[in-house]
Amino acid sequence: MRMIDIIEKKRDNHSLTKAEIDFFVSGYTNDTIPDYQISSLMMAIYFNGMNDQEATDFTEAVLNSGSIIDLSGIEGIKVDKHSTGGVGDKTTLVLGPLVAACGAKFAKLSGRGLGHTGGTLDKLESIKGFNIALSNARFLKQVNELGIAVAGQTESLAPADKKLYALRDVTATVPSIPLIAASIMSKKLASGADVIVLDVKIGEGAFMKTLDDARELSRIMVKIGENFGKKVIAFITDMAEPLGYAVGNKLEVIEAMRTLQGNGPADLQTLCTEIGAYLVHGAGITEDVKSAREMIEEKITSLEASDKFKTLIETQDGVYPDLNDYIHAKHIIAVKSEKSGYVKNLNALDIGMSAMRLGAGRETKDDTIDADVGIVLNKKVGDKVDAVEDLAYIYNNKEDITDEIKTILNAFEISESVQEKKTLIYEIIN
Ligand code: URA
Repeated sequence: MRMIDIIEKKRDNHSLTKAEIDFFVSGYTNDTIPDYQISSLMMAIYFNGMNDQEATDFTEAVLNSGSIIDLSGIEGIKVDKHSTGGVGDKTTLVLGPLVAACGAKFAKLSGRGLGHTGGTLDKLESIKGFNIALSNARFLKQVNELGIAVAGQTESLAPADKKLYALRDVTATVPSIPLIAASIMSKKLASGADVIVLDVKIGEGAFMKTLDDARELSRIMVKIGENFGKKVIAFITDMAEPLGYAVGNKLEVIEAMRTLQGNGPADLQTLCTEIGAYLVHGAGITEDVKSAREMIEEKITSLEASDKFKTLIETQDGVYPDLNDYIHAKHIIAVKSEKSGYVKNLNALDIGMSAMRLGAGRETKDDTIDADVGIVLNKKVGDKVDAVEDLAYIYNNKEDITDEIKTILNAFEISESVQEKKTLIYEIIN
């Protein structure tokens, strides 16, 4: 088989066979096919797409490039969730303890943040002592005994994806729906869960900008999951504005803790309850989604979910944060509105980029994070604002943040007319 023939075939909009897909994925992983040929193929896929069978074969080839986590040592149905990434998305911190308190087995491998999107590992590592490097045996034992473990993805999980993603990132081929679907699903399938809820974000702060694209991505991922015998449900949810109010690692941990105690922002609470209900039902704990939702609400009221988070932190060697003595940013600066009205838009991308520049995120993979800094919003879309009222607070360790104050101010579009709240959940595809 020759790589040039595969490129030519895709360039001319023909479908690739499983053997051809296996050939280029394994050749690229073991360095026998050069970057320039794979770049060319990725661009041909970007323009001509892949059908469902090709996307499934591609996912399988990437999945098989590394190890597959064997969760068979965990009793019961294992559940997992994945977000396509967003700003202020601390869902895993809330959802994991919630579903584990309901009796589901939440075996989660998470990643780090890059650019304007945060990562669960960074948030957990902002908790003193929290250990994300669990051995396989410890991970399985913990999920069996506690119902939840959250660890870092190892290098051996879908290594072809790592290499392909790095190449796509510098060849303008990230935004291809089948490539994104295969990239996400290869890692999810390698993580071994039986039931997976995908949270596909749309809006300014997300990969997918339109509902149609999000639908197509969801449809392909659900189909790939089905082809592998997994139950996959995709939620399409808003990321035009940040989720919740807090953006930044420790700030988000605090917001997650409050949400688990029933005092969180309405959007975060609703999203976690809804996704959680599908996971709890998918795990066979309740007969229907409605009873799962009721069970989740009860686990919040009874504080069992909050206790589960505390136990999770302590079991993974961390110190449960004291809400009153946790954030140690040098300055807290209010961003004040310059006019009265109603918030029409709140640009998640601008807020995420600003938080990143303050030090809450990474511009490149090797940047270090300042866990104490970030942004806490005081207003969200639909809220009424009076002139000079606080729109947001910047938690900051830098001396000059004039540019960030401007960015955050400009991220708010204020209109004179009354504005509706954003739709949170657009669709659920299963
Ligand atoms: N997230 C992934 O894991 N892969 C992509 O290709 C895009 C988003």
